[in-house]
Amino acid sequence: MNKFLKNNQKNKLYSPVKLSSHHLLSIEGMTKDEIQKLLDRADFFANLDRHSDTKFLPGYVVLNVFFENSTRTRVSFELAARRLGAEVINISLINSSIKKGESLLDTASTLNAMKPDLLIVRHPHSGAPLLFADYLNCSIINAGDGRHEHPTQALLDALTIKRRIGRLEDLKISICGDIANSRVARSNIHLLTTMGAEVRCVAPSTLMPSNLEKLNVKCFYDMDEGIKNSDVIMLLRLQNERMSGTENPSEREYFKFFGLDEKKLSLASPNAVIMHPGPMNRGVEIASSLADDPSRSLIKTQVEMGVAVRMSIIEALNFTKNQT
Ligand code: NCD
Repeated sequence: MNKFLKNNQKNKLYSPVKLSSHHLLSIEGMTKDEIQKLLDRADFFANLDRHSDTKFLPGYVVLNVFFENSTRTRVSFELAARRLGAEVINISLINSSIKKGESLLDTASTLNAMKPDLLIVRHPHSGAPLLFADYLNCSIINAGDGRHEHPTQALLDALTIKRRIGRLEDLKISICGDIANSRVARSNIHLLTTMGAEVRCVAPSTLMPSNLEKLNVKCFYDMDEGIKNSDVIMLLRLQNERMSGTENPSEREYFKFFGLDEKKLSLASPNAVIMHPGPMNRGVEIASSLADDPSRSLIKTQVEMGVAVRMSIIEALNFTKNQT
């Protein structure tokens, strides 16, 4: 263990977090204290030199099981698990078992027989990671399930904001775009409202889910109104693959009304920052010049924070379920 780590571990803030749960399936249901501790620990990892010795989980076996395409999330989890000293195996099931007709439960029991400690699951159907958690003997992290949740994305977004602005409480945060089809939006709404931020959802009516007000957010159908005086503007991609057809807006029209450009940004708070979980479509939800503006855009920092956040989560899970 390096000296820096040893010294900092004396500091309570930097001590490893232990969650009572075997799994991380959603932000909904997490407490403010749990979120805060995970973010503090992730902040500690983010401050470490890339070559620091953080191999706290030697010999642990992590399976990265992705039933949907992913580059940044899969690589980020892989790096995080490797930095913790675990063995990582990537399994892409986009074209294999599902197409051959195997049921999800049969796939789950095959993976279980390999006796992993942790399965990181991305699946196009909401609830698939929960089903795995019910039937497998290992820990599960949800890496995005359908339109439901993407908990690690919300945690890395929160860390990115905290490191830039210093807090989440009382910030005005506008989540803009295809909210209806976004698991990122749902996890962020739960996390940010739990942490005391004022969350606004901005979308055309066809892409705004009903009953959002119940989650303690304000809904806006006009972008100028929705981002007025905001401290943080989170943009979302049009997730066409989850749309049935009728709600697909034309990209040109969408950019005119809901794409972030200099003019719209001038309505936000003078130091407002821009975020996007990626992959982004330049000229559709965001003007290219803003995506690349280092004084405003936190998009690259989000990717960087992903590894630190995922280290803190993997380390914090209670793995005892599989210690047989
Ligand atoms: C998001 C996802 O997969 O939900 N991307 C990501 O994980 N970085 C958002 C998206 O696909 O638009």
